[in-house]
Amino acid sequence: MAHVGCGIDIGGSGVKGALVDLTTGEFIGERVRIDTPQPSTPDAVAEVCKQILLALEVGEDVPVGVDFPAPIIHGVAPFIANLDQSWAGVNVAALMAKHLGRPVTVLNDADAAGLAEVAYGAAKGQPGTVIVTTLGTGIGSAVIVDGTLVPNTELGHLEIDGHDAESRASSAQKDLQELSWKKWAKRLQRYYAHVEMLFSPDLFVVGGGVSKKSEKFLPLLDLKTEIVPAQLLNTAGIVGAAYEASRRA
Ligand code: BGC
Repeated sequence: MAHVGCGIDIGGSGVKGALVDLTTGEFIGERVRIDTPQPSTPDAVAEVCKQILLALEVGEDVPVGVDFPAPIIHGVAPFIANLDQSWAGVNVAALMAKHLGRPVTVLNDADAAGLAEVAYGAAKGQPGTVIVTTLGTGIGSAVIVDGTLVPNTELGHLEIDGHDAESRASSAQKDLQELSWKKWAKRLQRYYAHVEMLFSPDLFVVGGGVSKKSEKFLPLLDLKTEIVPAQLLNTAGIVGAAYEASRRA
């Protein structure tokens, strides 16, 4: 496995990239961020990824990983919830390789965050089933069993009480609906209790920007499973993408 990788994280508001030291899981140098173009069409976003790669001066031998807010089945995003709808059916890996002029590993954003938490963060050395959820614009999930990822789980789209789970319990919905921590925690309780019933995990890790304030909501949850905040916070997607690219190189 290479010691340096490059990770690029595609999100609804920003595209972010950095070089990653794969021994420690830490960034080498600065993170580069560019606003997600609007409309967030495939070609426009891929061009932004190229600008990030150029700004980071990524060497030819450095593996590049891109994480994306949709499942990625053999390179293809079958549907997309929180970016331009024209991404549905696109071979993201081929598109990125074309724009970046090199092979690119593409994976789901929550899967990337989950891999990073297992390799370097809150789930390091954790045996059994770990479920990493990212609470942001949507809800992402990564299911990892004894260190091995079960890719492309979409537990943010579980239907609970007749609703798509992320449309009730994402942190974007908390902001949009101006929910108090207590009200939001009620929705999270319903969500995590359901996931717990389905999977009986050994550990939940909660990521996404809002996990910086985990003391405001995690203590309000009553679950059988231990639930802890992510350790890599907003670097997890980048680190996990670089890690996976290097592993597959
Ligand atoms: C997408 C997932 C993604 C999550 C977080 C969901 O809407 O379907 O693939 O991991 O949002 O970005």
